Amino acid sequence: MRTFKKPLTSVLVLSLSAHLGQALAQSAPPPPPAPPGNPITVNKTLLGKALFWDEQLSASGTTACGTCHIPTAGGSDPRSVFGAGTTNPGPDGIFGNDDDIVASPGVPLAEADGLYSFSAQFGFRPQVTGRKAPTMVNAAYSPLFQFWDGRAEEVFMDPITGVPLLNTRAALESQVAGPPVSDVEMGHIGSDWPGIVARIQAATPLGLASDLPAPLANFVNGRTYPQLFNDAFGSNEVTAARICMAVATYERTLIGATAPFDDFIGNAPPGAPPQNPNALTNQERQGFQIFTGQGRCIVCHNGPVQSDNDFHYTGVRPRFEDLGRFEVDGLNANRGAMKTPTLRNVELRGPFFHNGRFATLEDVVDFYDRGGDFDAPNKAPAVAPIGLNPQQKAALVAFLKRPLTDTRVRDGLAPFDRPTLYAESARVPSFYGGGTPGTDGHVPNAYAIEPPLVGGDEMTVAIDNGFGGRMAIFCLTSGQDFAGTPITGTTFHVDLLSNVSLRRIPSLDGVGPGNGHGSVTVPVPTSSAAIGTSLYGQWFVLDNGSGARFAASEAVQFDWF
Ligand code: HEC
Ligand code: HEC
Repeated sequence: MRTFKKPLTSVLVLSLSAHLGQALAQSAPPPPPAPPGNPITVNKTLLGKALFWDEQLSASGTTACGTCHIPTAGGSDPRSVFGAGTTNPGPDGIFGNDDDIVASPGVPLAEADGLYSFSAQFGFRPQVTGRKAPTMVNAAYSPLFQFWDGRAEEVFMDPITGVPLLNTRAALESQVAGPPVSDVEMGHIGSDWPGIVARIQAATPLGLASDLPAPLANFVNGRTYPQLFNDAFGSNEVTAARICMAVATYERTLIGATAPFDDFIGNAPPGAPPQNPNALTNQERQGFQIFTGQGRCIVCHNGPVQSDNDFHYTGVRPRFEDLGRFEVDGLNANRGAMKTPTLRNVELRGPFFHNGRFATLEDVVDFYDRGGDFDAPNKAPAVAPIGLNPQQKAALVAFLKRPLTDTRVRDGLAPFDRPTLYAESARVPSFYGGGTPGTDGHVPNAYAIEPPLVGGDEMTVAIDNGFGGRMAIFCLTSGQDFAGTPITGTTFHVDLLSNVSLRRIPSLDGVGPGNGHGSVTVPVPTSSAAIGTSLYGQWFVLDNGSGARFAASEAVQFDWF
């Protein structure tokens, strides 16, 4: 069962593999085989692509797989930059110190009924994952393990019944089963696959997305998910296993390993001179020599996509902060060990490492040059001071950039093209008008990120920074007169309420000024007549308990689509 791993771990064998009789040609490595039982087909790939880019796979309607895995960002998350919205406070739970992790916002913490649960770390903002998103581009080259700790393994079990369905090389399928039920990434507290299947079954395929690439638009073509499943699997049942198998199939077609490096190597056997030296510049060639020689990078970054698919502790952070592979296999040797990432397209994918704390490849090379930052008995011996001079470092960095970049990935060309996500579009509710503080000086914050989709799920809107324990009212109206000029805290006119629908929270959670928070759900219209019309909403918090004054949030505009 483990035999597939061997060819990938031996030094560069696959990309250097000898077919000496062949003419000199650009030779991207062959993609790894799909597991028997889930062969790649055109329709299954298209269904997988639809599901991968469908934010309706998330409970909130705001997060698709692709939200955190953007091809032009090398398959990782371009939102992962230093800043509050994309930082996880790390094991100590405190923002702003060295164990913080720069990663991916998922969904607000929510209950099954859609109401938000105030997260100690993130409040009502989307929660941020505890690790940086690795890439799904070329992930197919890792058939035995997915995730930094490899916890998604090659035997794929039906996510609902637990019955093994695919016995070999199906780590990609196993991986898909995770994010939709994670209450950080896509789900709600207690999400389960039967609920997800029901949601997908009822959803309009890619109903939240826009600008579909033509092949995808032609495939979806106004049809239902059961119809698309019929095309892909021969019958119209939407099942959890089929969702995983379709998405994994799509990912198996995301092979972004055609780059100047492949030109350079040609079909040279291991150790033999590259066949097309001019495909790289002098500096890049020097970088390649350091990569395979003095720098020892090749010890782990080998095989067709520069990963041995094995786990190593390299001293990025103290190993107890994130136990990595140890959490899966309990082996002391694997405390803090992470799966070696592919280096294909790595220049597009910063910030780097499982915690996203290295902003540039220059930083990464400096890290290796000084032999890593932390030590432990199980630290990989190959990570030790190297002693590169500035010119050598620059050469190594140069090798990691252009030579390993597939320009189709960089430019988002097929198969790396994609729809525009709802969350990236102007369909997201917009805020305007500022707010009005209460006598305590606090302006309540309004949260509204869920899609105003006619016929879709109820939308959740939330408030924080209100007065804990006091009443809060969310008002929704079709008239600009009401919310268009945000009501000042003193003039909450009952006469405006005739065409207003109200959602009331009798007592905000939290104690005292600025600590009040809560959420409500807002029904969405079902008639297509609502498409193109707008509603305006605003939160009001009873200021002094008497109803005479209100603190008001910014106003929110919902444009139904
Ligand atoms: C909220 C952001 C987010 C969403 C949504 C998300 N991912 Fe990820 N993805 C991550 C993070 C973070 C990791 C690493 C987690 C870990 O290692 O513990 C990851 C890991 C992966 C990996 C493993 C790559 C490797 O080299 O090991 C694959 C493949 C992947 N995701 C595909 C998907 C698919 C398919 C979906 C949708 C079903 C999805 N992701 C949804 C953030 C996300
Ligand atoms: C002992 C095995 C090993 C060696 C040797 C090694 N790496 Fe790594 N590399 C890894 C592992 C494991 C990670 C992920 C570590 C983490 O995130 O904690 C990694 C991460 C990286 C990353 C970040 C990729 C990303 O997507 O975040 C880059 C870039 C990189 N290595 C380049 C190099 C270079 C250049 C060298 C040689 C100077 C090198 N590596 C040597 C195992 C190794």
